[in-house]
Amino acid sequence: MRLSSAHPSARRPAIRIGVPREILPGERRVAATPESIRKLRELGFEVQVEKGAGADSGILDDAYVEAGATLADTADALWKAADVVVKVRPPTPDEASRARPGTTLISLLQPERNPELPPVLQSMKLSAIALERIPRVTRAQKMDVLSSMANLAGYRAVIEAAQHYQGFFGPQITAAGATPPARVLIIGAGVAGLAAIAAARSLGAEVRAFDVRAAAREQVESLGAAFLQVDIQESGDGGGGYAKTMSKEFIEAEMALFRKQAAEVDILITTALVPGTRAPILLPRDVVEKLKPGSIIVDMAAEQGGNCELCKPGEVIEFNGVQIIGFTDLASRMAGTASRFFANNLVHLITEMGAGEKFRVDLENDVVRPALVTHGGEVLPPPPRKDPTPAAPPKPAPKPPPADARPQQHAIMAPSRHAWGTTIGGLLIIGLLFILGRFAPEDFLKHFTVFILACFVGWQVIWSVSPALHTPLMSVTNAISGIIIIGGMLQIGTDIDLASILGAIAVLVAAINIAGGFLVTQRMLKMFRKNPGGGA
Ligand code: NAI
Repeated sequence: MRLSSAHPSARRPAIRIGVPREILPGERRVAATPESIRKLRELGFEVQVEKGAGADSGILDDAYVEAGATLADTADALWKAADVVVKVRPPTPDEASRARPGTTLISLLQPERNPELPPVLQSMKLSAIALERIPRVTRAQKMDVLSSMANLAGYRAVIEAAQHYQGFFGPQITAAGATPPARVLIIGAGVAGLAAIAAARSLGAEVRAFDVRAAAREQVESLGAAFLQVDIQESGDGGGGYAKTMSKEFIEAEMALFRKQAAEVDILITTALVPGTRAPILLPRDVVEKLKPGSIIVDMAAEQGGNCELCKPGEVIEFNGVQIIGFTDLASRMAGTASRFFANNLVHLITEMGAGEKFRVDLENDVVRPALVTHGGEVLPPPPRKDPTPAAPPKPAPKPPPADARPQQHAIMAPSRHAWGTTIGGLLIIGLLFILGRFAPEDFLKHFTVFILACFVGWQVIWSVSPALHTPLMSVTNAISGIIIIGGMLQIGTDIDLASILGAIAVLVAAINIAGGFLVTQRMLKMFRKNPGGGA
């Protein structure tokens, strides 16, 4: 076992993280930056980088060494020496077979598109974590490379469109003539779509957007774009911020909308995707034919088959004067920033898995487990997906039960055990309230009524507010807690009686609530504070 160069006095072997150079043609990103290496070293890891790995992201080998990494001359040496390998693109079977058995591999893996890979990872007994499978939950947001890359790619899609478009995005009034703003239609308002809306708006374009998820409307409108609709009622929400596959009728209604829009817009950016399926075709040939010559289509879903029927992945083609951009490396075209974000996401994931010698692949971890493709010489089945559900054809209204279906009708009408429980509970509470009203002193009744109302208001305030608004809500609850403290203090007297004890408990609990509120607020503010070190 190797000894750590970071802590020679402790003479403990440190886990070595290896960062190979990406070999996919055109891939300019790298999975570690000097900044991320400093953080990994602070966590107690050794880091080794393959020579030249950061060159295309503008990071020189010297910068890695300065940050505390060692350099490996060849990919072979790097893979052989690493306990954990971090990468951007899926390794080729040849690359993966260089690893030592038991190595942890953290990378985009896309096993469904690289079916030859899992058997190699399995035979090498690698613990392979597919970054694209990290669940999109709030806790894992900081580890979500799909979101951070889609954000960059959405912005870049607009820049590529602007590069090919022969006009201004914003309106211009000059002595030489006036031009209206470019009209941009964004299809799919997920992470990439919203980033594209923001970028196009900031260039001055008039933006409209369409998405199948109703929740997207508010986000689209808050960015200053118009939200388009179709005349067909079908929820596209597949859960977790993802869409579900839409029915044929809905897709046809969508295409009719785009056919109409095609005559008006100058630029179309398509990002529509349902995870795990081929991207839906939303711009068939006849829609493209309706566009004005000089219009631009950027098909961001090119890698998943494309939203535009005519798109060629990785290429820019021209059809009837319309340029169709099918770049699949949009994030890589901003390699410096993309590498920084990617590397920061990885630091967060590695921290989640355990700092330094505590690092391990925990099958119980709800972020790591869904992303694990192979482990201990086995290919793991993907955990059951809650979302998205496949499209179901619109259901006919339920038929009335046949006349001879008596037993079933009876079963529906008979109250369940749960219903009995609720009824008895309700009766008991009513009885208790009746006894209280009859015998309790008037003073107690007044306080009790206020207490019940306060419980009800508190319950409504917390449960009826969407979780995204719980942080601003904290300031309201802090104000309420302040009032509780004053009330509690008034109850605490010199004698130790029930009122004093309850008052003291109220002061304690409210104080904990206020302190917690301040801590969370501090954490939120830290996220928005400028950090000269560029910390995530
Ligand atoms: P996302 O899942 O957050 O967004 C996709 C959006 O499409 C969702 O809002 C969904 O509701 C919507 N959608 C699904 N079916 C639709 C339909 N029939 N009509 C209208 N909207 C529909 O995905 P994200 O992260 O925003 O990525 C978007 C696309 O960009 C993906 O295809 C992704 O692979 C691609 N991408 C491409 C890159 C490149 O270099 N070309 C780089 C990064 C992402």
